[in-house]
Amino acid sequence: MNMIKVPSRFQSTQPNQRYSTNFSPPDGMETCFISSCQAVMREIKSVCCNNANDYSDFKDSGGTFIAFGGLAKPELPNIRKRFVLFIRQREHQLQHSERAEGHSRQRRRAALDNGECPLFKGNGRTPSKRLSSSKFIPLPRYKQAQRSTKTSATMSSTKIAIAGFTGRMSQLITDALLQNHPRVEIHGIARNVDKIDPKYRDSSRIRIFQSDATDLAALRKGLAGTSVCICAYLGDGRLMIDGQKLLIDACVAEGVERYIASDWSLDFSGLGYGDLPSKDPMKHVADYLDQQSGIKGVHLLNGAFTEVLYSAVIGYCDVKNKTFTYYGSGDYILDATTMKDAAAYTAEVAVDHSAVGYIHVAGDSKSAKDLAAIFAKVYGIQLSVQNAGSLENLRENMTVARRNNPQDMRKWIGSHYQYWMAQEKTRMVNIQNSRYPRVKPSSVEDFLRKHTVESAASAYFSA
Ligand SMILES: NC(=O)c1ccc[n+]([C@@H]2O[C@H](COP(=O)([O-])OP(=O)(O)OC[C@H]3O[C@@H](n4cnc5c(N)ncnc54)[C@H](OP(=O)(O)O)[C@@H]3O)[C@@H](O)[C@H]2O)c1
Repeated sequence: MNMIKVPSRFQSTQPNQRYSTNFSPPDGMETCFISSCQAVMREIKSVCCNNANDYSDFKDSGGTFIAFGGLAKPELPNIRKRFVLFIRQREHQLQHSERAEGHSRQRRRAALDNGECPLFKGNGRTPSKRLSSSKFIPLPRYKQAQRSTKTSATMSSTKIAIAGFTGRMSQLITDALLQNHPRVEIHGIARNVDKIDPKYRDSSRIRIFQSDATDLAALRKGLAGTSVCICAYLGDGRLMIDGQKLLIDACVAEGVERYIASDWSLDFSGLGYGDLPSKDPMKHVADYLDQQSGIKGVHLLNGAFTEVLYSAVIGYCDVKNKTFTYYGSGDYILDATTMKDAAAYTAEVAVDHSAVGYIHVAGDSKSAKDLAAIFAKVYGIQLSVQNAGSLENLRENMTVARRNNPQDMRKWIGSHYQYWMAQEKTRMVNIQNSRYPRVKPSSVEDFLRKHTVESAASAYFSA
């Protein structure tokens, strides 16, 4: 029997309060979620019902509750995670709703006059009406306007360090910061400053610092005075683990408040060490950040880069032979975000002082089968779609390939990605795109329309 555990501040046995976990599932059921708020229950149902063999609704003086049975054991932690994330987001929204209710009409009018409150222009709707009628509610837009006003007010003092400044993600993040946040200053830290594009070297808003990833003193010079450090390293395990740990140490020594880790990944938090070896460093770094008291970790997770979806690295699509090969049902959903959009989100997160922990974004979420269909729609090329077996077959194949070629990752990393991307626990479950409305992410179809067949397959390498 599994009672869901949620933080105590959400727990309640009072009928008029919103969340309660103080129920035991009825006989034969494994898990139950309880809330007196119908919207919460609807959301929980939509999240969980695909995963359960059976569920029942109950009513009680304490509220409605749903009990689920037949949940596969490995899915339970993921469902719990979703539930807790959902509750956190819901509580956040309710707080905004309550605050919004407390706003006087004049204050709203003043906000309108300042152009801060487009939601209320002319339509006379109140935030509470909007919130209560919405199933899953983004922050009210006037609140977002307040958020961005606050951000610009604090921007004069926002200095952002970017380590691995010669990399592609670094450059895209820098472009987004320069374009959208005129008062941000950037400290670009690179091991080889000669590689830096002169347009960045010559910018009055960028200061360049040369430092090896192993040079604590030089790293500290680059970080001094900054409040956020974005790490965009990409390299071997020593760089991604030891290099990032040293960078975090340097951040702590310089009083940097937040560290955005070099992730831009599927959600690795539910993976075990060794499951997907390229994610092990991210797990080490996340653990290391958790141990620090002087700095907050930020993990911007975006699924795959859209640029790799049709590449030989992952191995679904072989554009030369016009085949598309997948395992399992092919109906599982894959999250993807272009590098440019992931960078734009990172820039927004970097200037948003409240952004900490795991932040999910996604440019698009499509099934493996959809990827073949979108390709046919955009290019008019019908791929020969082949099912290569079950996900269990894929797991066996990838395990054998890895065992036979432990040092040659190219022989098995694509199949590992295919397998783990198909698992629900690596998905973006709490997508926060609406928190950063400035970013208008591209769909997979948008991405393909900007590419030829060949360049769609090689986009990651030519980015
Ligand atoms: N979700 C996905 O599908 C996906 C796919 C690929 C990558 N990613 C993520 O994207 C991020 C970076 O990708 P990217 O394409 O921007 O990488 P990139 O262009 O290869 O840039 C890597 C950066 O790391 C620096 N670097 C490498 N080795 C170093 C060392 N020993 N010491 C100091 N600096 C070193 C490089 O400096 P030099 O220029 O001097 O070499 C460069 O600045 C990573 O976090 C990765 O996990 C995600």
